[in-house]
Amino acid sequence: MPAVLFVCLGNICRSPLAEGVFRNRVRAAGLADTFIIDSAGTGGWHAGDPPDPRSIAAAARRGVDISDLRARQVRKADFGTFDLILGMDRQNVRDLLRIAPPAHQDRVSLFMQTALQLGQEVPDPYYDDDRAFDRVFDMCDKAAAALLAQLVP
Ligand code: 4NP
Repeated sequence: MPAVLFVCLGNICRSPLAEGVFRNRVRAAGLADTFIIDSAGTGGWHAGDPPDPRSIAAAARRGVDISDLRARQVRKADFGTFDLILGMDRQNVRDLLRIAPPAHQDRVSLFMQTALQLGQEVPDPYYDDDRAFDRVFDMCDKAAAALLAQLVP
């Protein structure tokens, strides 16, 4: 069973969008029961919080509901549970590699690189406007579609 963890800094802006769009595509493909999907933050400041209202709104504009997600921090056990641990930016990947056990370093990668072979980051929209959240949604959705096609050819 493929297990995918989407990771950003706070787990309130980018990774909940990535989790939401990937869940949506997996569900639409009738594969909801064959995947483990979650998201987490390298930081724990927002643990227990719902996604940023601007992420919830951006997803809602595209018909995706992420309002019931709650933030949590990455934990050691994640490196055993998830075989794909996808950082939104390079700092996320560096932070993940610092805490990943040596045997599971290869589970950590950059989301856009793994999904689309693009050495591109999903930029942090936290200090940006609503359009930035729409751009993050679109990037995540495109990458999520490619990732699903890769995992279920
Ligand atoms: P995220 O965005 O990593 O995409 O969830 C951020 C959320 C919160 C903060 C930074 C980035 N913050 O500094 O609280």
